[in-house]
Amino acid sequence: MADGTDQKSSNQMWGGRFASGPSAIMEEINASIGFDKKLYAQDIRGSIAHATMLAEKGIISQEDKDKIVHGLNTILSEIKAGTFEFSRKLEDIHMNIEARLATLIGTAAGRLHTARSRNDQVALDFRLWVKEELQKTEGMLTALIAAFLDRAEENADTVMPGFTHLQTAQPVTFGHHCMAYVEMFGRDRARVRHAIEHLDESPIGAAALAGTGYPIDRHMTAKALGFREPTRNSIDTVSDRDFALEFLSIASICATHLSRLAEEIVIWSTPQFGFIRLSDAFSTGSSIMPQKKNPDAAELVRAKTGRINGSLVALLTVMKGLPLAYSKDMQEDKEQVFDSAESLELAIAAMTGMIRDLEVRKDRMRAAAGSGYSTATDLADWLVREAGLPFRDAHHVTGNAVALAEKKGCDLADLSLEDLQAIHPAITSGVFDVLSVEASVASRVSFGGTAPSEVKKQIAWWRGRN
Ligand code: ARG
Repeated sequence: MADGTDQKSSNQMWGGRFASGPSAIMEEINASIGFDKKLYAQDIRGSIAHATMLAEKGIISQEDKDKIVHGLNTILSEIKAGTFEFSRKLEDIHMNIEARLATLIGTAAGRLHTARSRNDQVALDFRLWVKEELQKTEGMLTALIAAFLDRAEENADTVMPGFTHLQTAQPVTFGHHCMAYVEMFGRDRARVRHAIEHLDESPIGAAALAGTGYPIDRHMTAKALGFREPTRNSIDTVSDRDFALEFLSIASICATHLSRLAEEIVIWSTPQFGFIRLSDAFSTGSSIMPQKKNPDAAELVRAKTGRINGSLVALLTVMKGLPLAYSKDMQEDKEQVFDSAESLELAIAAMTGMIRDLEVRKDRMRAAAGSGYSTATDLADWLVREAGLPFRDAHHVTGNAVALAEKKGCDLADLSLEDLQAIHPAITSGVFDVLSVEASVASRVSFGGTAPSEVKKQIAWWRGRN
């Protein structure tokens, strides 16, 4: 009975030594079928590979193997079609599938679990799932990076203010700013690729924790399941959840990047900044204030970071006190990973859409770039280069020029030559060439700098790496 009230019958899969069934509370705390049914395809794939190997090695007959494989494929279609009845009494996906197999093919079903345990079985299923998720994440990050590369290309010479402390610092290009995110998401993608490599070892055959006396071939199952090789220590294999922790760490760092970007989008889309306009597709209105266009998607991306970081901390905490090898605590690994995977996918997809759709308001960026004395460093550099001043003195002279501009309520470029010469006699009209924001960005040609020529080089480098 799926409601867990039947106390009389013990679990049909492991109940041999139990006189009565679990209490309803025991059943409720023990069962994972509510969430690990997500692993059904991986479980069936793993079982088919295992049964095939058992038959190859003469551990079970070909005939039994054929029945098992046929039965498992039937179950796969039943689950896909939504006709499979999951039972909480059968605890988890592994036993739900095995019990159904017994109903479908009879005694041969009992041979499938030879030389394996649910401990290596769940390690296998979950690894396969995380591997697929990482591959999906890799593709999604590539799409996000591509969106940024396109925007960077269109805006390689769109001037905007660059900030430190969220105070205007120096003019940069929007293309350069976009490329900063390409670097961040590029690192995330590299981490994803490393994680795929790390987890590419097959756990099946580690059995409960000690390996098995049956003449199994773990290399054969590893190959059949698309792993590079089998894991090398059976104790570690069933107690390891590093692959889940790595997924959550990567997801947390990536979500942090997405959240910083979301924060910038929120700021940029305010009327006060007005650097971008979000498309209608990625914003909402207010039910009371008709003028509003809210960046809800960005805000939710920012907020998803909380639950993803929470999942990482939750699983680290589950694992930190566990003696080797398997403990049931480890069953708590899945929901954290499933929830984070869903949140991360949604956040990357929403961000990719926003970046592709957003309107860049070049005029607003240009106007903001010119205010706030953003070319003060250029003036100081000019004094060093053209008038031979030590940088510290040039910094001081420039400070005086900023103070004067502030007093007059104008920008540095609006000061007259006379004003500037009164501050330092070595200043000539040539200084106006560097006081414009365009000249400022064009001059920053150091490797990785903001000059459009440099930004274009970096775009080309990334385009060659997808
Ligand atoms: N549902 C369990 C989990 O997710 C499967 C492994 C159970 N193993 C055991 N020895 N009880 O961890």
